[in-house]
Amino acid sequence: MKRIAVLTSGGDSPGMNAAIRAVTRSAIYRGLDVIGFRRGYEGLLDGDGVPLTKSSVGGIIHRGGTMLRTARSDRFRRPEGINEAISRLREYDIDGLVVVGGDGSFRGAWALHEQGFPVAGIPGTIDNDIAGTDSTIGFDTACNTALQSVEKLRDTASSHDRLFIVEVMGRSAGFLALEVAVASGAECVLVPEVPFHLEHLCEKLHYAKQRGKTHSMIILAEGVMSANQLASRLKDTGGYEARITVLGHVQRGGSPSSFDAVLASRMGASAVEMLLEGQRGFMVGYVNQQLTSCPLPTAWESKKPLNHEMMALVEALSI
Ligand code: F6P
Repeated sequence: MKRIAVLTSGGDSPGMNAAIRAVTRSAIYRGLDVIGFRRGYEGLLDGDGVPLTKSSVGGIIHRGGTMLRTARSDRFRRPEGINEAISRLREYDIDGLVVVGGDGSFRGAWALHEQGFPVAGIPGTIDNDIAGTDSTIGFDTACNTALQSVEKLRDTASSHDRLFIVEVMGRSAGFLALEVAVASGAECVLVPEVPFHLEHLCEKLHYAKQRGKTHSMIILAEGVMSANQLASRLKDTGGYEARITVLGHVQRGGSPSSFDAVLASRMGASAVEMLLEGQRGFMVGYVNQQLTSCPLPTAWESKKPLNHEMMALVEALSI
């Protein structure tokens, strides 16, 4: 292998730059050339590749977003898209491709692998919804960003004796919501993985009030319903007046936490090492504090379980 490429794809996440830097520098350290494709698979199809050097990835480890930019590409998903992408990779003399992204991006990488092209995946998404790794790059930072907001909201909620619903991202998964709920000491958490009953929620809020709680925070995963919908259902069923905050894309920005910067650095270097060792069609994972690898389809074929002990903790600690 003489030359590899790297791209970031799908929703950005804090730490993607640290991963680009690690892939680039560890590849150069081992005598390889590196090309970065801008705007994910879109840029690959357009032939929008730039040489990455030791210095061009300097000063980015602490930056949020992705210097290569990112996109969700419909063109790439067409059957012709895969062949066009492989032609582009051949034009650039690329021997291996590292894709940093979520499960949608990995499906694309797997399609390239099935055509015989060497690929590696690095899990980067704030949703943490990728099986085969305990943590994805950006999840820890997004939790901390959301946590800071929830703490601020609790200040005003307690001053005004109010009920707040805070909607967090996560797509169809509740990992972000659950982590933030435990870390912020929220009274309730609603996640897509656990069916919820409005009557039960109203009862909980009612008894909390009876026990002397003057305010409550509900952390709502966006995959359950919108904060607006929940607020109007709480009003209709229990007469509750909730204030709502939708945290939105702020959760995707900012400098990576030390955990994410280290995770991205380790995963980036491992992806290169594993490609050089001859691994193909794999994703780098982080399981029980060890770097691992698994076949790319693990990311979408197995469902990552939510930690039910943490769900129980929210109930037990919010008495
Ligand atoms: O997958 C990351 C994520 O931020 C999800 O949490 C969210 O549902 C989605 O992307 C938002 O996507 P977009 O940036 O396209 O609005």
